[in-house]
Amino acid sequence: MTDLQFPPGFQWGSATASYQVEGAVDEDGRGPSIWDAFCATPGAVHDGDTGREACDHYHRYPADIALMADLGLTTYRFSIAWPRIQPTGQGPAHPAGIDHYRRVAEELLQAGIQPVATLYHWDLPQALQDLGGWPNRDTAQRFAEYAALVYDGLGDLVPSWITLNEPWVASHLGYGNGGHAPGISDGAQCLAATHHLLLGHGLAAAALRSGRHPDTQIGITVNLTVAVAASDDPADQAAARRVDGDSNRLFLDPLLRGSYPDDMIEWFDGKAGGNSFAFVRDGDLEQIAAPLDFLGVNYYTRHHVKGRAQLDGPADVPAGSGPRVTLPALDIESVLPDGVPRTAMGWPVEPDGLRQLLVRLHDDYPSLPPIFITENGAAYDDAPAPDGTVDDPERITYLDGHLRAVHQAIEVGVEVRGYFVWSLMDNFEWSEGYAKRFGIIYVDYPTQTRTPKSSAQWYAGVARANGLTGTDAPG
Ligand code: FCB
Repeated sequence: MTDLQFPPGFQWGSATASYQVEGAVDEDGRGPSIWDAFCATPGAVHDGDTGREACDHYHRYPADIALMADLGLTTYRFSIAWPRIQPTGQGPAHPAGIDHYRRVAEELLQAGIQPVATLYHWDLPQALQDLGGWPNRDTAQRFAEYAALVYDGLGDLVPSWITLNEPWVASHLGYGNGGHAPGISDGAQCLAATHHLLLGHGLAAAALRSGRHPDTQIGITVNLTVAVAASDDPADQAAARRVDGDSNRLFLDPLLRGSYPDDMIEWFDGKAGGNSFAFVRDGDLEQIAAPLDFLGVNYYTRHHVKGRAQLDGPADVPAGSGPRVTLPALDIESVLPDGVPRTAMGWPVEPDGLRQLLVRLHDDYPSLPPIFITENGAAYDDAPAPDGTVDDPERITYLDGHLRAVHQAIEVGVEVRGYFVWSLMDNFEWSEGYAKRFGIIYVDYPTQTRTPKSSAQWYAGVARANGLTGTDAPG
């Protein structure tokens, strides 16, 4: 008996990203990325972990795809490593790079799984960072050229394309607080990177559209949150508004309205190196706001905040890519709600935030395209039992709650077409290295053995039923 049925054709998938799973960093002519360089920086990544081997998905993708098929998943979101296609960030497509991803896409199609390719999940060729990286406007142009090469090589096999994954993380953690590659902490670079990432999205989307195969769908994935003020105090309310501005509207408004939010332009002005939006040129916003076929939404948790009177330089930065104080300074303090369970990342489990977020998108953005939840999931300290099985009831509870939230949003009219759990398998969790496990499949790194966790079996049941039963989740 299924008591919550999703719409017919709803897609059930899982997601990964190249640097987090592939390994094989020196193989077949791949060039270095900013993550190779960042991992080599002492102290940058937990335990000195690197993506050198990761899950060896570069070689093991056939077996991994067979696992997805066993679970009955209908779609797979993976990312293309730019340094495999253009080892130095420019020039013609490197054939070995295109061939690899053609094989992946073909394998997926043969298994009846729809490929969804992300063009940029943070592994910028180091050669482009050496030229200034995303704060340099030229990187947006380079990205569009790369996108055109990839689409030329794979557009006949891959129907769905995501230009960027989480531009907020790339700009704010990469250039704002230095917690991610390339490890820069500079407010002006953070804002310039934000704009050039969005411009890169617009230029890349146009490049794909111009050579379009008839079935191609083009979108972008943004990480969004619900900003919650810790109290009714006007300072806390204003802080929540700034977090909403920086995390959500700074990306949604240019993409869906063709403008940056006035309150954020005003807030950042003078704080991030003078006239902070001087990098916006005529025509940029039209390019960024070209219609999308879908919006990818990544949601993990809400962000609770207090206002702060003064902030001298970078504030405390909690681990991971969840709630955190960022540069340019927002003068806020992140707080944790009482009595709410937390994941191994320390992120509060707040499924209703996903319903709130989806309804808000629907209410605030009349041009909102259909939505895919392109990431949602949780890290827990999973460990195999003596018999080798991995039981992860907390993850099942997390996923169940968030899927119910998605269902509620659909019921009130939000068009959500699919859901991708983060992640297919445990992998390299950026600055947290291998310490945090997000997979529904357990990876024993020394042997590269995969063991589906109980959440994988549970999720397979949901995908097969295209819905949830009232009694599925433990606890
Ligand atoms: C997101 C990233 C993804 C993964 C999850 C936990 O911010 O897109 O690669 O690290 O967080």
